[in-house]
This record gives sequence, C-alpha cells and structure tokens, in this order.
Amino acid sequence: MKSVYVGSLALLAAGVGAYASFGAEGASEVSRADKRVEYRDCPKCDKRIRVDLAAGKAYVNLSRLEGADKEVVAARAAKLLDAAKIAPTSDPKIRPLMGWSSWNTFGVEISEDVILETARAMATNGLKDAGYTYVNIDDGFFWGHGEDGILRFHPKRFPNGMKPVVDGIHALGLKAGIYSDGGADTCGSMWGGGPDGKDKGGIGGGLYGHDAADCKLHFVDLGFDFIKVDYCGGLVLKLNEKVRYTEIANAIKATGRTDVRLNICRWAFPGTWAADIAESWRTTGDIRANWSSIRRIIGENLYLSAYSKPGHYNDMDMLEVGQLVGQMKSVFGKHGDTGITPDEEITHFGMWCMLSSPLLIGCDVRTIPASSKALITNPYILAMNQNDLGLQGYVVVKDGDAYILVKDAIEKFGKSRYVALYNSSGKAHDFTVRASDLDLGGKIDAFDLVEMADVGCFEDHVSVNVAPHGSKFYRFDAERRVQRKVYEAECAYLADYQELDERFTEKFGTAAPVPMEGASGGMVVSKLGKRDTNYLEWRDVKVDETGEYLITIDYSSPDDRAFDLAVDGAAPRRVNVKGTDGKFMKVVIATELSAGIHTIRLSNASAPMPDIDRMTLDSGKGVVF
Ligand code: GLA
Repeated sequence: MKSVYVGSLALLAAGVGAYASFGAEGASEVSRADKRVEYRDCPKCDKRIRVDLAAGKAYVNLSRLEGADKEVVAARAAKLLDAAKIAPTSDPKIRPLMGWSSWNTFGVEISEDVILETARAMATNGLKDAGYTYVNIDDGFFWGHGEDGILRFHPKRFPNGMKPVVDGIHALGLKAGIYSDGGADTCGSMWGGGPDGKDKGGIGGGLYGHDAADCKLHFVDLGFDFIKVDYCGGLVLKLNEKVRYTEIANAIKATGRTDVRLNICRWAFPGTWAADIAESWRTTGDIRANWSSIRRIIGENLYLSAYSKPGHYNDMDMLEVGQLVGQMKSVFGKHGDTGITPDEEITHFGMWCMLSSPLLIGCDVRTIPASSKALITNPYILAMNQNDLGLQGYVVVKDGDAYILVKDAIEKFGKSRYVALYNSSGKAHDFTVRASDLDLGGKIDAFDLVEMADVGCFEDHVSVNVAPHGSKFYRFDAERRVQRKVYEAECAYLADYQELDERFTEKFGTAAPVPMEGASGGMVVSKLGKRDTNYLEWRDVKVDETGEYLITIDYSSPDDRAFDLAVDGAAPRRVNVKGTDGKFMKVVIATELSAGIHTIRLSNASAPMPDIDRMTLDSGKGVVF
C-alpha cells in the first residue's frame, strides 16, 4: 500500500488547530500566474493552501509543498478561490430550498414584527447574499376559517392580515412561505408549542375542504411562494397520504402558479410518489436542539439517497444551527433542548448539505452567533448542497458508529467528489479513507470545506482522526475516476419503499434496508419480492468498456428462494438460491454490458426473495464461461 503522509490532518480533525492559519511569517511573494495567490513559508502550519475569502486571497505554504511544483499548487489555489462562487442554476426550482422558518425559535409565538424583522435581518446580514431567500411562516398564524369559507389570520399576531407581510418580504428581494395541514386542524392546535400551550386559532385552519379557496388566497391573492403541508389533522381524519397530498398539489397547480414549491410534512419517508408531486418531503419527526435529535435524523436519512433527484429532496427538517449550548433562544428551550456544541453544529450543517436536505435556518437570525453564520454561509460547504446534480451522498463505509459518505461534486462520474467522515459516536474515531472505496485513483488533492484549506495530497489511503460527534467534509480532486465495483443493497432504489405503515406487516410490508450482522456495510435489504413493484434497482451502473462482466450478488436466505435479474429492462434471468443457514453466500451471473450507464433490477413478482447484501461488478475478461 502506498500512502503519502497527511498525518497532520489527524491533529486538526481532533480539534488541535493551534497552527491552523498561516501567519505572516516568512517571506511573502505573489504568484506569477494569479496575483490573488501568495506564497508564504510557515513550517508550523499543517495546511498546503489556505483560502481567505474576506481578503479574496489564497496562500500557498512553501513548507508543505511535499515536492510539488509551487506554480502547480498556486494554480490549484486560484481554482479554489474561483470555486467559492456558487454557480448560477439553470432552473430556480432545481436546488434544495434555502431560507428561514419561524418554528424552531418561536413556535406559534410569531407576529408580523418577528417575520418582517427577520426578513430585514436576512436581507442585510449576508444570509440573503449567501442564498437564504425563503422566509417561511410556520404554524401559529391561523384563526380558523370564517363562515364564508375564507381563511382568517390571528388578530393579535397578524392584525393587518398577511398582505403587508408578503409584500414586505418581496420588497426585500426575498420569497415568502406559508404553512397548513392536510386535515382540518393544525399540529399547533393539538400539541401547542408556545408558552400558551395549545393554539386554538389552528382549529379548523387546515386545508381540508378548503383546497381551492386557500390556494387561491395564498398563491394568487397574497403571493406566497412556498407551502409546507403538515399532517396532524390529516392523521386525525385518517386520510390517505398519497391521495390527500396529490389533491393539494393539484389545487396548487390549478392556481396557475408553476413556481410554488410544496413540502410534504408527514415525519417519515412517505413513498416514491412524493417526488412526483412535491419538491421535498420530511423524513423524520421534529428536530430538537440537542445532539441525540441530530444524530437520530442523520441516521434515518443515511440510506435514502436513491430517492433524491434534481428538484426533489429528502427534508431532514429545519436547522438548529445557531442554537449553541448556553446561547439557546427558543420557546422550546424549556422542553429539554440543551443546545449543540460547535463540533455538533459542523456535523449538523455539513450532513444536511451532504444529504441534500433543504436548508431552513431555525434560529433567531437577528442575533445569530457570528461563528454559526460563518458556517452556514461557507460557500464550499454550501456547494455540496447547492448544485444542479441533485445527488444525495451515500454510505460507502460503516465502521461501528462512524461512516464515510461520498457524492460527485462537479459532474456525475467525474474526478471530483465530496467526502464526509461522520463520527456519530461519543469517542474520537480514526478513519482510514481508501481511494478505492471512493472510486478514485492516482494522486488525490484534499480540500477541507470547513477549514477552507487544502490539506495536501495522498495516494491510496489516508488516516484522519475525527472528534466525538464531529465530522470532516472534503472535496477530493483525483487524477482518475475508477469504475465502481461495489453497490450496496441499502443504497439501491426500492420502488415500493415507504415508512408510513408498519413496513413489515403482511398488508403494507415493503422491502427496506435493515441492519444484519456480517453483512457488508452492516445492512441488507429485506422483504423484497411477492409483487412486481417490490423490487430493488441499482441505477447509474456505469461501465467504461463494452464487454463481458461478472455480477456477484451477496445474499442471505432462510430457505430456497429465487429472484429475477434484469439489465436495462431486458428479459430477466431467473436465479435460484438455496437457504444459507444464517450465513451469506454469493451467486455470480455473467452478462454482456455496453460502455455506458445501466440499470440492474432484482425482483420476484410472486414469491419472497432472499435478503440482498450487495452487488459487485467485475470485468469478465479472460473468464471462460
Ligand atoms: C409539526 C411539524 C413541525 C411544525 C409543527 C407546527 O410538528 O413537524 O415542523 O411545523 O408541526 O405545529
């Protein structure tokens, strides 16, 4: 194994950042190629390049060139400076939503003043410039529906109605968001959320029976640009989620507005239908400002990458960034929210970006701590989230409670990839990051997104120590992209997947990733088969050359079972397997694949399938069949 240093990475990741910044020590000389790049000599600094966005400069550390040509490193420094500008999008609806929502800090205790002061703060404190443009009013503004069927607004909190609020937000160049429920009553009317307890204005405030009138009011008369539709009222009425949310999506469409974004808030992955009608869907219960909540939400989103696509995202809930221990400001503070530490804040924000969640700030932006604002406006971290690829990171390594996730950075199948080292445990963790696990090869330049510093170059593998509850986020720029070999089942697309009903009951049971000892990645997909839609599919299976390939499926099966393997929708091949007695076995299928991207589906329309662990793809060159 060949590994090139980067030992110093380990120190910094554990929080020992004493020599993190290049001082003005040593001679300073400007690069010939780009005047924004300066050379400095700092033997004590462990970074190779440091970007200083405020100064508009990048510094190359001559002491950390490790044999590299200084002009080549300077050219990389200039490129990193350029990468600090988030590229404009081809379609404003394509990227995860960015903005603020009133709920996490204010609960139902909102008002015209709170909303407009927030909007003004965002317009002037750098948040709008960083892309946080939606100002979303959550629960608490309702005053039921009148006898005329028209929605009324809380007379004390919004005495002037919503028109001046929406107009005020728009006048600042921002977008306005509103909230409702698929049923008759809102969540706040049942569960409270403010010092006043239950919020009676939410009784009868929901969309149920008022779809057309409320959508006209919100999107035509008032001009809202977004709506989050909750489901406490929908549950009480036992409404069917797919039917109900589709009715609401159709009512929005009927207003003629095509730019309104819909968020489904049903606190669990609702099913693959959600992507057909909404821009985002909540996948978990409500976030709280404490580590166990953030850890739980990340855990529930680690294996949902297959359902994310441009314009349609898993929503991990509103951010608790800015709610630091000792600086909590929220009506929920007294409900046991302790706040989060700076390391947890990095994990929280970085993972929301890695997993392409909408980014809705939940703290009081009028008093957001400077360090929190710097974190959420860091353009390098944001670029993981705000790009047109629509990719959610997926897990490639699970080592106990530590995970390595990856996703493409600039183009699909390109040589630049985002990498997260996520340590969910309470102890520091030593990660071994292998290029082969990331489908990268050759020399790899590593840029730490949080530090805004290039930490150096490695080949084959690198070791990084990460603090408890901490994470590191990098962009790795490699010499080569290597054809992917391992496809875990838990990262595949499961067409029937949903988390609404007891997923293992006979009636609703759908295939799902579940932990299993001895499985690669610690997970298998279980309960596949029995109907034609309950299948597993690996999409984006790219091979570089046309030829023979060997597809190896690792599986575990309680008894003799079978599945059909189909490539790109062609006639499937039946694969029979024996019971494995609790162990894992392999079955190898030879197939011809043309250079390009393929879809490989495993299904059984009539009987249960074995549990699937993973697929490995090898060239069949030289193998005699
Ligand atoms: C539910 C949602 C929260 C928030 C409250 C408002 O709990 O999940 O995000 O909107 O309702 O009552």
